[in-house]
Amino acid sequence: TFPKQVKIVEVGPRDGLQNEKNIIPTPVKIKLIDMLSEARLPVIEATSFVSPKWVPQMADHAEVLKGIQKFPGISYPVLIPNVKGFQAAVAAGAKEVSLFGAASELFSKKNSNCSIEESFQRCDQILKAAQAASIPVRGYVSCVLGCPYEGKISPAKVAEVTKKLYSMGCYEISLGDTIGVGTPGIMKDMLSAVMYEVPVAALAVHCHDTYGQALANTLMALQVIQMGVSVVDSSVAGLGGCPYARGASGNLATEDLVYMLAGLGIHTGVNLQKLLEAGTFICQALNRKTGSKVAQATCKL
Ligand code: HMG
Ligand code: MG
Repeated sequence: TFPKQVKIVEVGPRDGLQNEKNIIPTPVKIKLIDMLSEARLPVIEATSFVSPKWVPQMADHAEVLKGIQKFPGISYPVLIPNVKGFQAAVAAGAKEVSLFGAASELFSKKNSNCSIEESFQRCDQILKAAQAASIPVRGYVSCVLGCPYEGKISPAKVAEVTKKLYSMGCYEISLGDTIGVGTPGIMKDMLSAVMYEVPVAALAVHCHDTYGQALANTLMALQVIQMGVSVVDSSVAGLGGCPYARGASGNLATEDLVYMLAGLGIHTGVNLQKLLEAGTFICQALNRKTGSKVAQATCKL
């Protein structure tokens, strides 16, 4: 059985744009987020307060967060790597943050310049600061279905890292197939191991679509065991990719996810037409073709 309702976490403005080489003007980023708000995405990850030396594209994080319209009922979390990022995010008005760890040692080193163990210490510092400021914290675990540097990752390792972030105080953990190599069977095995340690209500999936498996993997996550995951990350127009994950490409396209969920009778609250408009806007601004099949199909009609 499927959940009756799915909460979509739109990561386009952050994951979708962070990998773009040319610096996108801040007003374009702000307009994209406002259009996504119009489409009633319930959660929109707006930007990241990471080091601008590492990801120059996100250097305008404070301007973006301050410049967007804040719709009632929509949350605008931002990604942070450390307490410095947390403080800057809160100063810019963030009401929620996301931190990130990984199930792969080599990826942790490449993406965060620290070991998994060291990343737990950073996460703990962030969580303590966030608890003091009553800011909810979401956690990401990267490389849950494979790593560009280590290859296969064991479900037991993913379960261990997820459990650690959950027990430290993240209210939700998003399981990232960072380079989109997973297939539904691996997703099922991984989730079975993780669900043994962490309540399913606290889990989300975050699939990249490098091998065209993102929608299939997400569908598996929605129905794995009795009642599956009901929080799904996706990105408008299928934009996305991590600059420190070799070979990573776009995320699951939000348009395709919304279309599939509507077909299954699962409620999302998202306005597909408005979402398609947001996708057209950002693709024109970036001068690239949409990664969403639904957008391609409806464009020809
Ligand atoms: P480091 O170089 O080891 O750290 O980087 P550092 O403490 O030595 O700092 C280096 C410089 O950056 C210093 O400046 C710091 O002040 C500054 P300097 O003294 O040289 O002038 N700095 C900062 N500036 C602004 N904001 C900050 C900040 N922190 C340090 N928050 C660090 C360590 C973690 C900072 C770095 O590795 C980093 O920023 N990494 C982020 C990489 C990233 O953004 N990756 C993409 C997001 S994760 C992702 O996409 C995966 C996900 O989508 C899920 C999935 O798909 O699996 C979430
Ligand atoms: Mg990602």
